[in-house]
Amino acid sequence: MRRRLLPLGWYAARAALAAALCLAACRRDPAAAALEEGEPGEADALDLERMIRQKRYVPYQPAEIFHDGAVMRRPPDGTVPNDRMTGDPALTRGVAGGAHADRIPVPVTLDLLRYGQERYEIFCAACHGVAGDGESEVARNMTQRRPPSLVDPRVQAFPPGRIYQVIVEGYGLMRSYEPHIPLAERWAIVAYVKALGKSRAAALDALPPPLRERAQKELP
Ligand code: HEC
Repeated sequence: MRRRLLPLGWYAARAALAAALCLAACRRDPAAAALEEGEPGEADALDLERMIRQKRYVPYQPAEIFHDGAVMRRPPDGTVPNDRMTGDPALTRGVAGGAHADRIPVPVTLDLLRYGQERYEIFCAACHGVAGDGESEVARNMTQRRPPSLVDPRVQAFPPGRIYQVIVEGYGLMRSYEPHIPLAERWAIVAYVKALGKSRAAALDALPPPLRERAQKELP
């Protein structure tokens, strides 16, 4: 039996319908679609585009509702950021009375070191190397000043507050990590940088007895 050809217009109409459905689907907000599958009526109640349509000011636009006509408001005098660090500057800045903190001002525990390792590997290792020795892909490709080794005696001799200060303020070409690494994480990183240094070269009698015995047995 011969197939009967449908008129061309029929195919065109079908294609147009498919395209229209497709476009309609593209417009649909996935959140609204998900809601529609839930409770009936919920999606109707929730107008998800109201914030786009609502009357609003844009930044820097004049605003007659304020006495000075400026839409962008200044915080009231004396306002401080809620994350402003206050208290002992040795703890918050690593420097007090012009001297770097010579001790880590938080309890140094194994958990702190593990946390420090995690944060170090996220924030510092890309440049200073996972082992802290300055061997990293970034360092090898750095055309200006290479990130220095943090385990060499020069940096290891820094008081803890000096390393902390570098994290907060940056140093030379290195940017400040103040906005990204909060206080407790900074000290954890400082502790870990110190631990990395110790892991490089430790006198046998500085080790706790069980480790010392193992080292004496296993080291050449
Ligand atoms: C994007 C690369 C990069 C990252 C990430 C980075 N540093 Fe650095 N760091 C450098 C460079 C480059 C220098 C040398 C800057 C200079 O001398 O101008 C430096 C210098 C230092 C110094 C030595 C300062 C001195 O007095 O010699 C310390 C300590 C240090 N970084 C610690 C850290 C710690 C801790 C982190 C992680 C929180 C970190 N750095 C993350 C690139 C980096």
